[in-house]
Amino acid sequence: MSRVYEALIRANADRASTVITFGGGVIGDMAGFAAASYLRGVALVHVPTTLLAQVDSSIGGKVGVNHALGKNLIGAFYQPHAVVIDPSLLGTLPRREFRAGLYEVIKYGMTSSPALLERVARERKAIFARTPDVLTAVIGESCRIKAEVVAQDEKESGLRRILNFGHTAGHALESVTKYRRYRHGEAVAYGMLVAAALAVGRDALAERDRQALADVIVSLGPLPPVTDVSSAEILGAMRHDKKMVAGRLNFVLPTGIGATTIVDDVTEKEMNKALAQVGFHR
Ligand SMILES: NC(=O)c1ccc[n+]([C@@H]2O[C@H](COP(=O)([O-])OP(=O)(O)OC[C@H]3O[C@@H](n4cnc5c(N)ncnc54)[C@H](O)[C@@H]3O)[C@@H](O)[C@H]2O)c1
Ligand SMILES: [Zn+2]
Repeated sequence: MSRVYEALIRANADRASTVITFGGGVIGDMAGFAAASYLRGVALVHVPTTLLAQVDSSIGGKVGVNHALGKNLIGAFYQPHAVVIDPSLLGTLPRREFRAGLYEVIKYGMTSSPALLERVARERKAIFARTPDVLTAVIGESCRIKAEVVAQDEKESGLRRILNFGHTAGHALESVTKYRRYRHGEAVAYGMLVAAALAVGRDALAERDRQALADVIVSLGPLPPVTDVSSAEILGAMRHDKKMVAGRLNFVLPTGIGATTIVDDVTEKEMNKALAQVGFHR
């Protein structure tokens, strides 16, 4: 904890007050947004307590709250003054929440680091056993990748978009199921499978790389089914996505393990085929 106090003292050097968030992504995003707005910004320190928040939402400065008209419609980019991560906090996290965070780790592996994907596959048991040094390595590597991407493109005008891998179909799936059935990471897992199927369909990704991704996802355990969710619903939700630029949907496609490309010409026919391959009904 002395590191927390050190971070607070540093953050407070020139400010009257500090918001410290202690919780998962929901708390961090919401209290972080409060910190960004109050007095036009007070110092902010995140102490993330879920795996998803430790590897993803606490890093990168996106804060916000949901609105009835859409997720994250109200928000800001507001960098925390410090993020203090203690993997031992994950000891009490329910297995399903833990797994949900791991899908975001798989995302980093697939977009940026074959070694990370390989590590999740190889050390799955020690990861689930929450062995501290194994977790520290996995979380540290994930944070490094996210911070590196965000440092180059804070406002998501270019490179940062790769972190949306799996999030186009993923967000659509969360939205059509009213954010109730899937944890965010679970929806992203489906989204990654859809993007990989799309990429294979246009010969941008080798089938063996799609299979490797699918194998790691499956090895983590069961996902809530999608068999009663229709492709038409997903397509409808995608049309309302924030990632629409000038009426075209930006889609992050994997081109290998650790490599991506962004396209904006995915057709409904391709989408329908990929959704069917992943198990959505027609
Ligand atoms: N800002 C970003 O860049 C960003 C990135 C990804 C996701 N998000 C957002 O993050 C949210 C999801 O975050 P989340 O997955 O952390 O969910 P969450 O904050 O809802 O936490 C999940 C559950 O775990 C409980 N919990 C938290 N820490 C615990 C612990 N140590 N032990 C036991 N239980 C614990 C919480 O009370 C909650 O019930 C979504 O709203 C998503 O939009 C934001
Ligand atoms: Zn995410």
